[in-house]
Amino acid sequence: MKLKGRVALVTGSAQGIGKSIAEALAKEGADVIVSDINIELAKITANEISGLGVRSIAVKTNVADANDVAASVDQAVKEFGKIDILINNAGITKDNLVIRMKDEDWDAVLSVNLRSMFLCTKAIAPLMMKNRWGRIVNIASIVGEMGNFGQANYSAAKAGAIGLTKTVARELASRGITCNAIAPGFIDTAMTQKLSDDVKKRLSEQIPLTRLGTPEDIAKAVVFLCADADYITGQVVNVNGGMYM
Ligand code: NAI
Repeated sequence: MKLKGRVALVTGSAQGIGKSIAEALAKEGADVIVSDINIELAKITANEISGLGVRSIAVKTNVADANDVAASVDQAVKEFGKIDILINNAGITKDNLVIRMKDEDWDAVLSVNLRSMFLCTKAIAPLMMKNRWGRIVNIASIVGEMGNFGQANYSAAKAGAIGLTKTVARELASRGITCNAIAPGFIDTAMTQKLSDDVKKRLSEQIPLTRLGTPEDIAKAVVFLCADADYITGQVVNVNGGMYM
C-alpha cells in the first residue's frame, strides 16, 4: 500500500490502459478519480475500483476542453481536497496518410492527445505545488519516437507529449513534483482491436518478446513511477517488449 493517502486523477480511465492504471493505483491504496468523456462506463469503473477498498468517483470530462477540465478538477477537489497524482492517459486515433488527412482529424487528435496534457497539468500542478509533492505521468507512444505509417497526427501529438514532459519536469522539480512519460508499444486494447489479425501477427513479429503488451504491463510502470521513482524525472520509459530500443 505504497500510495495510501494519495489521490490520483487518471484521464480516459473508463476502459483500456487508463482503467488498468486506475486499478493498479487503487491496489496500492490511492483514492482514484475516474475522468472520462464516457460517463456511463466511467461510473461502472469507479464502482469496481471502490470495491478495492479505496474511494473512487467518476467525473465526466472532455479533456480537450479547458472549461470542462477546470470544472472536473473543481469537482475532484471538493470531494478529495487535493490531487497528488495526474495520469494524462486519454487518447484517440484518426489515421490516414498525411496527404489524405483531414484538417479536422489533425486538430482532433492534437487536442485530445496533447492539448489535454497541457490543460490538465496547468489546472492540477498548482495543487501539487501547494503540497510540495506530485507525480505526473504522460502516456506517450512508441509511435512518437519512431513515426508510423498513417499516423502523422498521432505521432506528432505523442512526440509533443515527450517534449512537454521534459519541460514540465524541469519547471516543477524544485517543488517536489516529477513528470515522466511512458511510451507503450502495441497494447491489446479497443484501440488496437481495430487492427486485422494479419497486422497484429506482423506487429508481433517485430517484438522481441513476441507478444502485444497488456494494459497491466503499462500500469506496473505507472505504479513504479508514482510510488518508487523519487529520483527519476523527465524520462521516457519504453514499455514495448523491445520493439524499439
Ligand atoms: P481506449 O480507446 O481503450 O481508451 C481511451 C479512453 O479515453 C476511453 O475510455 C475514452 O472514452 C477516453 N477518451 C477519449 N476521448 C476523450 C476525451 N476527449 N476526453 C476524455 N476522455 C476521452 O485506448 P487505450 O488503448 O487504452 O489508450 C490509452 C492511452 O494509451 C492513449 O493515450 C493511447 O494513445 C495510448 N497508447 C495506446 C497504445 C495501444 O497500443 N493501445 C499504444 C501506445 C499508446
